Amino acid sequence: MTVKPLYDAFRDYISMRDDEITRDWFDRFDWNLPERNLKPELIPAVGEVAEVLSFCGKGEERLVKLFVEMRNQLQWLQSYTADDFGQYMVDHYGFVELIGTRGHYPSSEIAAGFVFFGQGVDYPNHWHGSEAIYYPMTGTGLWSQYNGEYETKKAGEIVIHEPNEHHALKVPENPLLAIWIWRGGNLAQKSDY
Ligand SMILES: [Fe+2]
Repeated sequence: MTVKPLYDAFRDYISMRDDEITRDWFDRFDWNLPERNLKPELIPAVGEVAEVLSFCGKGEERLVKLFVEMRNQLQWLQSYTADDFGQYMVDHYGFVELIGTRGHYPSSEIAAGFVFFGQGVDYPNHWHGSEAIYYPMTGTGLWSQYNGEYETKKAGEIVIHEPNEHHALKVPENPLLAIWIWRGGNLAQKSDY
């Protein structure tokens, strides 16, 4: 089954953003990609994903609704096991690669998609060789950069992590959904920590 409606809504959302860094990659990115026929792959956290509807931003609502509607048709991935950050995180987090080397739409230029963290997940400090851009769809996350204080980011804000920048994320009260984009480096890398 196609996930094209979600791909189109994702592109539309990105196209409306005016952050300089977004425009920098968006305007040069060729969105005319063929779709891979990926089978849905579900993980336990998918059962909680609809909870984010109560917390999404106004400008994010259309995309978040569609994502929730299509959650069972997507290939969900996890890069960590219980040995990394514990069983709780494994049971309550996951991501979808909409675009990328493994994604629903193939690209070796960027990897991008959605990441979900259920209430109570504490994702400790980690880093990776790719630059990472996040757009929180919900204002429920506490984000730390360069080992600094945790700060709340609202829905629709932008969070930029330079390559190998140390960063961490906590979701103490309510679940988080965010768009993520990786550029440069190994786009399928497991983070170091
Ligand atoms: Fe990261």
